[in-house]
Amino acid sequence: MGERLKGKVAIVTGGAAGIGRATCELFAEEGARVVVADVDEPQGHALANAIGHDGGQAVFVRTDISLEDDARRLVAEVMHRFGAVDVLVNNAATFVLKGIDASVAEWQQSLGVNVIGTSLVTRYAFEAMKENDGGKGKGAIVNLASISSFVAQPEFVTYSATKAAVLQMTRNLALDFAPFNIRVNAVCPGTIVTQATERHRATVGMSMEAFMKLEGPKHILNRVGQPREVACAILFLASDEASFITATHLMVDGGYVAR
Ligand SMILES: NC(=O)c1ccc[n+]([C@@H]2O[C@H](COP(=O)([O-])OP(=O)(O)OC[C@H]3O[C@@H](n4cnc5c(N)ncnc54)[C@H](O)[C@@H]3O)[C@@H](O)[C@H]2O)c1
Repeated sequence: MGERLKGKVAIVTGGAAGIGRATCELFAEEGARVVVADVDEPQGHALANAIGHDGGQAVFVRTDISLEDDARRLVAEVMHRFGAVDVLVNNAATFVLKGIDASVAEWQQSLGVNVIGTSLVTRYAFEAMKENDGGKGKGAIVNLASISSFVAQPEFVTYSATKAAVLQMTRNLALDFAPFNIRVNAVCPGTIVTQATERHRATVGMSMEAFMKLEGPKHILNRVGQPREVACAILFLASDEASFITATHLMVDGGYVAR
């Protein structure tokens, strides 16, 4: 158990699985009071219970980030239970992997969760963070962008456009929130083994071995990443160790975009 987030209240959207789950676990190990915000009730509750069982503190709040009422209720509930929001990790995302033939509904789904949903949770968390430090404001927000914010991938436009938007939102909001001592940064993972990549692999009908053979060499380190490796970067940006870091992004991509 570390103390890098000791006493901090941290909301992790999409916290029930994958990178979000690893982040919740690591944050709890570092002393945070963790709020798992997700649409997946069984997995969200199970994770909060498991963290409690291991001596950490976590609660699950059912949240669909694309719904404004849910975003508002999430922050209200966290304020009621813990009295503050110190850290927000905007991790929840939907994976609409389509080319230009995407329907309006598919575009709305992708933008509604990844861009508008991220902005909604941020808006209400920002209101809470402004109250920190005796009303002067303090907080750290970490957004999940991607290698897809930078590089073109085939038939990915509905997803990549949202991740490019998340990266630019990071810079804009860092500027807007700076007067309140609220830092906003992004991490940009390469291919990470999660439920999302599992679903994608199954959809394109590829064996795990074939997937690893294809994806690994795209990274300079010649392998894909694990959720915990992304969580470690998120922890750094969320912690006070990153107190002079804002409006930037940290690649966690095994060198993917340097190729
Ligand atoms: N896995 C990768 O290779 C990879 C690479 C780059 C970036 N990312 C980014 O990392 C983040 C996490 O990805 P992951 O692979 O862990 O995904 P995942 O699908 O494994 O987990 C995502 C979680 O978000 C939840 N979620 C989905 N829609 C939601 C909504 N509307 N409201 C609340 N919760 C919702 C899901 O229930 C799930 O628990 C995403 O932002 C993704 O874009 C992932």
